[in-house]
Parts: sequence; structure tokens; C-alpha cells
Amino acid sequence: MMLELRDIYKTYTQGKLEVPVLGGISLTVEEGEYLAIMGPSGSGKTTLMNIIGCLDSATSGEYILEGEDIAGVSEKRMSEVRLHSIGFVFQSFYLLSRQSALENVALPLLYSGVRRRERQAIARRALERVGLGDRTDFKPTQLSGGQCQRVAIARAIVNSPKILLADEPTGALDTRSGEQIMEIFQSLNDEGVTIVMITHEPEIAAHAKRTLHIRDGLLVNSAGKPLNPNARPGVPAAPAPPAKEPAPADRTAEITAPRIKAPKLPKLPKLPKLPKPGKPKAPEEEAALPQAQQSAAPAPAAAQEAPVISEPVRPKAPVGSQHEPPRPKEPAEPQAPPREEISGQTIIAALERQLQELNNKQDPSGPAEGEGPADEK
Ligand SMILES: Nc1ncnc2c1ncn2[C@@H]1O[C@H](COP(=O)(O)OP(=O)(O)OP(=O)(O)O)[C@@H](O)[C@H]1O
Ligand SMILES: [Mg+2]
Repeated sequence: MMLELRDIYKTYTQGKLEVPVLGGISLTVEEGEYLAIMGPSGSGKTTLMNIIGCLDSATSGEYILEGEDIAGVSEKRMSEVRLHSIGFVFQSFYLLSRQSALENVALPLLYSGVRRRERQAIARRALERVGLGDRTDFKPTQLSGGQCQRVAIARAIVNSPKILLADEPTGALDTRSGEQIMEIFQSLNDEGVTIVMITHEPEIAAHAKRTLHIRDGLLVNSAGKPLNPNARPGVPAAPAPPAKEPAPADRTAEITAPRIKAPKLPKLPKLPKLPKPGKPKAPEEEAALPQAQQSAAPAPAAAQEAPVISEPVRPKAPVGSQHEPPRPKEPAEPQAPPREEISGQTIIAALERQLQELNNKQDPSGPAEGEGPADEK
């Protein structure tokens, strides 16, 4: 078995307000499965994916990933799991726009401490694998949306994860590009990679071997009836831990606290990044690394800092976002940092800072920690 969720509840706390989102999800994913999760906007898909991806913790319930009880592990271990066991693909790619495709793909290897030459060779192979062997030196702005997503997939698989989590991987793509992504997923799954994919599109879900539906935070059957008889329709607050206020200095608090999701605007054009108070810097990357690629390095403390809003690179006008209103500009509020997209983006902010440090060292694909200078040329 690859992973098992048992009676997972997730309730966000916004000040005094409890926002119940997941209402008792039980789910088993076998090794080598290809699972699609569908459901209306706001039903809790991304929340569930974030828990599966060790980006967020459940309020209650058990999560076993490859035999390991994830609820009990440290943030550092969560980072290791993300880095080595899980590949992430997002609708918005999260590529670093100033780095080439090769550098983007090689980044997780950098965090893994792989030497430069090897990093580049592995990244090149990953790019060839997704049909972009001739685009290694292109930057995301020089690539189409579909190509960007293929770079993101190459990056997701570069550490050979056992499980690939994809949140609307084709949501910003045209049909043809979406099909290419599906072909890649299929071949990865044929090789044994477990895939869990969120999608709104039935044609995309049809590529998976199994499809689950989620509604109001509950897994439901095709008739809309909850699969879990104990689940609580209407998504009540988590029943087990009464008034689970700030769990004593645990990562749950760290990760969830900074996040408040105002009107959900997942597919909008990029926001200017807010300058970090006290750290004047030329506008950094507007793109961000996905959480999957973070090393164990982003310390929880970093994640607690004022989050930097960073939006994905949008090289092409996204398809399918026509209904969305223009995104309001976030006010710069040094004292009260803007609330942001879930945990992932908090971590992304930490990642960006890491990358900034790397950039400051002149060579963004420079040596990893502990790497011998002889390796660098
Ligand atoms: N940090 C948070 N604080 C408060 N509420 C949150 C938070 N994160 C998510 N929510 C709420 O949880 C619900 C589910 O959000 P989620 O992002 O999981 O939906 P989704 O199914 O992925 O939707 P979409 O298809 O639009 O991406 C939403 O109502 C959202 O407002
Ligand atoms: Mg979502």
C-alpha cells in the first residue's frame, strides 16, 4: 500500500472562526495506482492534496505514507519525504522564470546534494523524457504553457519519487498540451509511479484507473452519497480534539496559521511580489518553486516569517480562467503580512529566499552544501 488516510478531518482556524473543510476522509491508494480526484471548486481537493503531499497536517485522523505515520513526524522529516518521495505538479507550474529549464529541473537535485555535473546530466535526461531535450536552455518565458508544465513534470520526477501528486495539471493548458501531459503521466504510471491527480475535467480524469469524487469535504459515490458512513455531511468542525487551538508549537500551527484564503483566485495573473520588510531587493522571481523541490532546509522559522506572495509565471494567457475577476492588488502591509495561499506558498517563500541566496552567490546552479569546489567548473 502506498498511502492510507483514515478519517481525516481538516478545519482551518481563522481567528475565532473555524472553517471546516474535510469531514472524515478515508482513502487507500495502492502502489502503482493512478487515481483521479474530482469535485466542485471549494470542495477540499487541494486541501486533501496538501495533506497527502505532507504540505499540511490534518486536524485529526491518521495518515500513513509508505508505512510511516506522518502525523507523528517532524517538519524536517516532512521535508525529506517531500523531497525524496513525492513529486508535485501544479496547474501554475511554479517555475523560476530567470532560470533555464535545465536549472529549474536540476534544482531538487541541488537540494539533495547531488554534484553539479551529475545534476545537469540527470536534469537533461528528465527533460528529454518529457520531450524537451531541445529546450534545456530556454527560460520559462520562452516556452509555451504546455512546455512549462513538462518542465515542471521533469522537475517533479528528477528525484525519482514514488508518488506524483498533480493538482489540476492541465487546468491552464489547451487540449493538445493537456493530452501530452496525460501521455507523460501514463508512461510514468506504466513504470510504476503512483499518481494522484486532481482535475475538473472528465476527459482528463478518464486517463486515471480510478476516480473519486469529493463534495463538501467528503468522498461521495456517483450518486453523491458519502462513502464513509461516519463522515459528517456539511463538514463540521473536527470532532476529536475539542477546540484545537494552537497546538503546542507544532508545525501544524506554523503551516496553517499564516494562511487565510480570501476569495480563491487560483488562476490569475501574477502579483507583484511584496518586498520583505527590511530586506530591500530587486524584484525577485515572480515564479516559485513547488514545495516538492524544497530541501529539508526551509526552517519552520522561515516559514513563519512574513510570507512573500509569489505567483506563478504565466507565460501564456491561461486557458479556462476567463471567468475570473482581475486579481486585486495586495496591499503592502509590513506589520500584518498578507494572508496567502496555503502552506505551500509559505514554504515557497522560504524557498525563494534560499534561491535568492544561491543567486547572490552568482551561480544559481552552484555547489550544494558540502560540495567540493573541484566539482565546479
Ligand atoms: N487556510 C485556509 N483558511 C481558511 N479556509 C481555507 C483555507 N484553505 C482553504 N480554505 C477553504 O477550504 C475550502 C476548500 O478549499 P480547497 O482549496 O481545498 O478547494 P478545492 O476543492 O481545491 O477548490 P478549487 O477547485 O477551486 O481549487 C474552501 O472553502 C476554502 O475557502
Ligand atoms: Mg484546488
